[in-house]
Amino acid sequence: MKSLPEIIARSEKTLRPLMVGLPPKIAVGLFSAGRKRFIEKLGQSIPSKTILPPEELARTLWGIRFRSPIFNAAGMFKNGDGYALVARQGAGAYLAGTTTGSPRIGNTKHGVFQPFAPYPHSRTASNWLGLPNVGHATVAERLSDIDRINGCPIGASVSASPQEAEKVALVELTDGMWLYEKAGVDFIELNESCPNVPGHAGSASTVMLDENLIRRCEHVFHTFLTKRPRRLPVIVKFSNDTHPALVPLLIDLLTTLGFDGVNFGNTSTTYQTHEAQIVPSEKKLYNYFTKNFGGGLSGKPLKESSLALCTLACGYLSGRQVKDEFRVIRTGGIESPSDVVASEQAGIALNQWYTGYFENFSHDGNRVYQKMYDALIASMQAPTALHSPE
Ligand SMILES: Cc1cc2nc3c(=O)[nH]c(=O)nc-3n(C[C@H](O)[C@H](O)[C@H](O)COP(=O)(O)O)c2cc1C
Repeated sequence: MKSLPEIIARSEKTLRPLMVGLPPKIAVGLFSAGRKRFIEKLGQSIPSKTILPPEELARTLWGIRFRSPIFNAAGMFKNGDGYALVARQGAGAYLAGTTTGSPRIGNTKHGVFQPFAPYPHSRTASNWLGLPNVGHATVAERLSDIDRINGCPIGASVSASPQEAEKVALVELTDGMWLYEKAGVDFIELNESCPNVPGHAGSASTVMLDENLIRRCEHVFHTFLTKRPRRLPVIVKFSNDTHPALVPLLIDLLTTLGFDGVNFGNTSTTYQTHEAQIVPSEKKLYNYFTKNFGGGLSGKPLKESSLALCTLACGYLSGRQVKDEFRVIRTGGIESPSDVVASEQAGIALNQWYTGYFENFSHDGNRVYQKMYDALIASMQAPTALHSPE
């Protein structure tokens, strides 16, 4: 029997293209409220059947066994719910957050709370949520109570509080990391790239390292990385808008300070560049959203930049002697097995997905990972069998 989120996702899939044609203000209002309610329901849902990822797809990184190379991106389960859901669906791992020191309500503008709009035919979406979350302490406590399901690892995404004085924000950030360390999480992701709050870096035109970023990384080095009592990898997530010339500088910074990986990355704000990928029937909503809210663009338009930035990172790392294990993670536009295969070929260790997960969930439901794995295994047996959804 189908679960409630599976039924809702499937019926919304047919309604979405019609809703996109409504007056944009109404469409954004409906999509934003609907997204919030749906994700809350999804996070509580527990599939009746447990799917085990095929052994061949597992990999051990930093001493942690990831059950497969793909799992949810940050922001899907901001408040630490959804573990049982994705662990039973067969995800490679689970990632909670992003959380901040103090709880955040999120953005409201033009009467819309946590604005969101999907562009289903373009396989992309906009969001201007503003990092809503209940705070490090509450989520760390929730995660500490979780019993692992079939060894599915747990990660936590954290950020310094935007709009907080730097001195306070830095202390809160590493205090949060310590709370997650004590909660027993397996890895931490530092979110340096939310376009919906002030202070996060990630401009396509910047070719110099941001001084605030350097200070934050140095603070994490002094108060967390050098003091970790166990092997607890910390990955840093940057924007998919990162200028390619910055990649070597970012990697030098992170490897020098003892971070464990890099993730490219977060949503994009280069609306004009991506406009060509928005189908004509969705342009009105796209233009309305980006003009009135801005926000971050996710999904298919990020496929190329995430692969290009990660490939660059892997290439740069392969020519260098890095003392500790340092891994590259890809997020942005992952939606089909061929994307994961492209990542594997480039030497990318792990993939995270958000927009593509929901697109696939709307037709595959709780078999969303299983379908991906079936195709990946088939491609390992017959490498030319995969087709991208173009
Ligand atoms: C509604 C929404 C909320 C998000 N919240 C976060 C967040 O809290 N932290 C974060 O690092 N990224 C967040 N992201 C970005 C995603 O983790 C991911 O980097 C981005 O969507 C690109 O991946 P995709 O193309 O698979 O969607 C969010 C994305 C969306 C669509």
